Amino acid sequence: MMISETMAAKLNQQVKEEFFSYWTYLAMAYRFESIGLKGFAKWYQLQADEEKGHALKIAGYLIEQGADVKLTALDNPKTDYASAQEIVQVTVEHEKKITRLIHELMALANKEDDFATASFLGWFVDEQVEEVSIAQQLLDMVKLASDKVQLMLMENRIFTLRE
Ligand code: FEO
Repeated sequence: MMISETMAAKLNQQVKEEFFSYWTYLAMAYRFESIGLKGFAKWYQLQADEEKGHALKIAGYLIEQGADVKLTALDNPKTDYASAQEIVQVTVEHEKKITRLIHELMALANKEDDFATASFLGWFVDEQVEEVSIAQQLLDMVKLASDKVQLMLMENRIFTLRE
């Protein structure tokens, strides 16, 4: 194995976090379906797919470095959201948490002089800047809507955030 045991364990933990993000955003997509906001539901489906991609990317890196991928059970995602704004607020908080975790991984890579992992994680550091920014912009948009009709009118525009 070309990375430390500690790094392999932490990266496996991050695989779990990214799959949990996938699970969380999928639950959010279904919640939006339930409240009749299909555009938001599609937006969160795409976000969920991205998270699955993140998990697979880290798992692929572990394999490349000769480490085992150890998948573990995920917690239940939250499903009882009261409003669109609550969903997007939780998204912002979630992405901030993921950013902290990525930064912890980067700090470990630097501490271990693990240049390969630091280089690999650079992509995630950049990605998190974008993810937090997009979630925050989505929250700013949703806060402008005072009712469901306004949220429905907003549905086409939210996809411009992903371009
Ligand atoms: Fe994989 Fe949204 O961070």
